[in-house]
Amino acid sequence: SELTGEVEFENVDFGYNPDKIVLHDINMYAKPGQKIAFVGSTGAGKTTITNLINRFYDIQDGKIRYDNINIGKIRKPDLRRSLGIVLQDTHLFTGTVMDNIRYGKLDATDEECIKAAKLANAHDFIKRLPDGYNTVLTGDGSNLSQGQRQLLAIARAAVADPPALILDEATSSIDTRTEAMVSKGMDALMEGRTSFVIAHRLSTVKDADCIMVMEQGRIIERGTHDQLIDMKGRYYQLYTG
Ligand code: CTP
Ligand code: MG
Repeated sequence: SELTGEVEFENVDFGYNPDKIVLHDINMYAKPGQKIAFVGSTGAGKTTITNLINRFYDIQDGKIRYDNINIGKIRKPDLRRSLGIVLQDTHLFTGTVMDNIRYGKLDATDEECIKAAKLANAHDFIKRLPDGYNTVLTGDGSNLSQGQRQLLAIARAAVADPPALILDEATSSIDTRTEAMVSKGMDALMEGRTSFVIAHRLSTVKDADCIMVMEQGRIIERGTHDQLIDMKGRYYQLYTG
């Protein structure tokens, strides 16, 4: 992809139904490689913003720019492949582990897939599967644990090598050790890419370049963890209980 991962929203208004605006006047700027976190209560608009980053919908008003190209109103169905990979959305299919990773970039070589799996922290568990990379996954990857599926999703994203990533952190319970493996893989994947993270873990939020605090479709506070704590506003409330 020729995109650098620079993303800008300027005065964006959006509603799934034009009669009911759910995002109001969203302004944000992500430099290539930055990590932007979204926090806020349920229904605040976090997922909706990430849907717009991927251009799943037309916006009502404003501009969304990638590298100064306004993509807010043009249809680009393949954008998802070139810009944001959504990690929660990975569908594993019947086929080998290798083919499931390769799905991120169909012409990737075995070596590239293995390199991606190593970066994703998935290589070790794959090597321990009965047939390693040639192990066949059943339908939806149901012969893997949830944590293993997440590691494969990270490997698939790594092989696609997108300039930006969208992560909707799973709240689902995986054990602490697997969680640590997944975190490590995600950190490696995010390195050098613009990352938009809907964060549920404080550890993820803490090291973000900018945290967007959302409420009823608006960004009501923004800043680093330390800045927001000093502000003693909504974020402070969220994280001090
Ligand atoms: N909404 C809608 N139609 C959809 C999806 C969402 O009208 N297809 C509305 C929701 O009812 C909500 C608003 O859009 O009022 C924002 O929803 P969403 O972005 O999904 O909120 P999140 O902040 O992601 O909430 P959660 O933490 O529960 O995921
Ligand atoms: Mg959501």
